[in-house]
Parts: sequence; structure tokens; C-alpha cells
Amino acid sequence: MARITASVYTSHVPAIGAALDLGKTGEPYWQKVFAGYEFSKTWMKENRPDVIFLVYNDHATAFSLELIPTFAIGTAAEFKPADEGWGPRPVPVVKGHPELASHIAQSVIQDDFDLTIVNKMDVDHGLTVPLSLVCGQVSEWPCPVIPFAVNVVQYPVPSGRRCFALGQAIRRAVESYDEPLKVQIWGTGGMSHQLQGARAGLINREWDNAFLDRLIADPAQLSQMPHIDYVREAGSEGIELVMWLIARGAMADVAGGAAPRVAHRFYHVPASNTAVGHLILEDA
Ligand code: DHB
Ligand code: FE
Repeated sequence: MARITASVYTSHVPAIGAALDLGKTGEPYWQKVFAGYEFSKTWMKENRPDVIFLVYNDHATAFSLELIPTFAIGTAAEFKPADEGWGPRPVPVVKGHPELASHIAQSVIQDDFDLTIVNKMDVDHGLTVPLSLVCGQVSEWPCPVIPFAVNVVQYPVPSGRRCFALGQAIRRAVESYDEPLKVQIWGTGGMSHQLQGARAGLINREWDNAFLDRLIADPAQLSQMPHIDYVREAGSEGIELVMWLIARGAMADVAGGAAPRVAHRFYHVPASNTAVGHLILEDA
């Protein structure tokens, strides 16, 4: 049977992609950001999964106001890096895993979560920047990736509670797949940031670090936090953090197993307009 081996959490910022792609990683401003991922790149080489289930949000790139799926699973064989206005990022095409993705869709939908099935989709910085941060600048991504897009851009957005329950359903789906695959689940986006309006530039270090503490130690309680608290405390784009609860809900302890091991924790301000948070949790 397939199993979840670890969960990885990281912020995404388009400017991080640009810093990598334009050779700016040595600049002092960016060095402080990338330093937090040195451990992760080595860890990824030593703990290479067979598949990454990557929870992220599309930023009106593949979807638009014409079509707003709350939860969308990518079942295609490949996903091209999107053109977000400056041409596609010069990163490898993302290879999917149609068989596992289809199985997860079947299992999770029968488990009462309504997913949108996406057979053709370009993937934006929400997916490619986390991959670059943790896998480095590579000519091929280390394994197939199942993109799982969550709507946190256009209201109404899903609650943390529903995201946490969905993670539990994804774990059940993975564990019922009849092949011994090692699967990592990633939760991306966040941490505190607001890109618009009177509070543009908002960062809340104390709240972010409490969120990391609670995500590690008591995610069930954290999942009860209403969306308005994210917006009030972490800014309008801080709501991206509900995606971390999907990954956390898929860990063993939530299903009655042992608590995960914190392999790595990093927090840094600033990267562009965003507080960068990063965690790696390993299942026993
Ligand atoms: C920034 C952060 C985001 O999450 C995003 O989607 C776009 C921009 C930023 O910090 O600039
Ligand atoms: Fe974003």
C-alpha cells in the first residue's frame, strides 16, 4: 500500500522564483531566504518520495472568475509552468501521476468531498516556487507531482476545519492505493501578508510563530479558527495558510498514530511582501 512519509510546508512568492531564475540567489537580501532551505534540499535528496501531493493555490492563472473550483485535483500526465506575465518560469515541466491522482479523486469524492477533476492545467508560482525552494535548480523534478489547487483567492474560501478533514480523507485515499509508493504531502502559501488595500505590507511575526507552534502540536484545535481571524491577524493573503491544514490533516497522529518529528523549522521576514515560513514534519 502507498503511505504518507512526510509533510512539507512552505510559503511561495513570485519574487523568489524571479531571484532564482535571474541568478540573484547570492544577493544578501535573498541569501537570508535561501539559507532556510539548505537543509531542505539535502533532506529532499536523502528522503526522495515516489510522488509529491502538492497543495497550492492558483492565482487567477489557470482559473479565473469564469470558473472557481474550491478544490481541484490535477489528473493529467503533465502540467506546464504558466506564463504569469513575464513568460513561463524556466523550470522543468511538472510530470503528474494520473493513476494515483485518479484513485485519490475516486476515494475522496466517495468520502464526501467534492473535487473538480482537471485534465489540463498550467501551474503558476504557487506550485513551482515551493518545488524550486525544496528541490533546487534542477533539470528534472525529483518525482511526479499531483497538483491540488485550493481556492483562497476569490470568496467564499474553504474553512480550515474543512481543509483539515480533507487532509484526513487524502490520507485514507493514499493508504488504500495498491502500490508501495512513498508519498509526501506539501502545504504551501502564507505566511502573513497583505498585498492590497490600506493594510498592504502587513506582517505579524508573533501570530505566524504561534501558528507554526499550533500546527505542530495541536492542529485539530487550530483547524477550528475561523477564516476572519486569518484575515484580521495575518492579512488578506494570510488566508493561504488554510492549505497547510490539508497537509497536516494527512499525518499519522491525526489518524491515531504517533506524533510527527519536526525535522526542520524556519521563519524569515521579509521576502517581497511576505513572511516566509517553512516546516518539515516526518511521520514515524
Ligand atoms: C507575493 C506573495 C504572494 O503569495 C503572491 O501570490 C504574490 C506576491 C509577494 O509577497 O509579493
Ligand atoms: Fe500567493
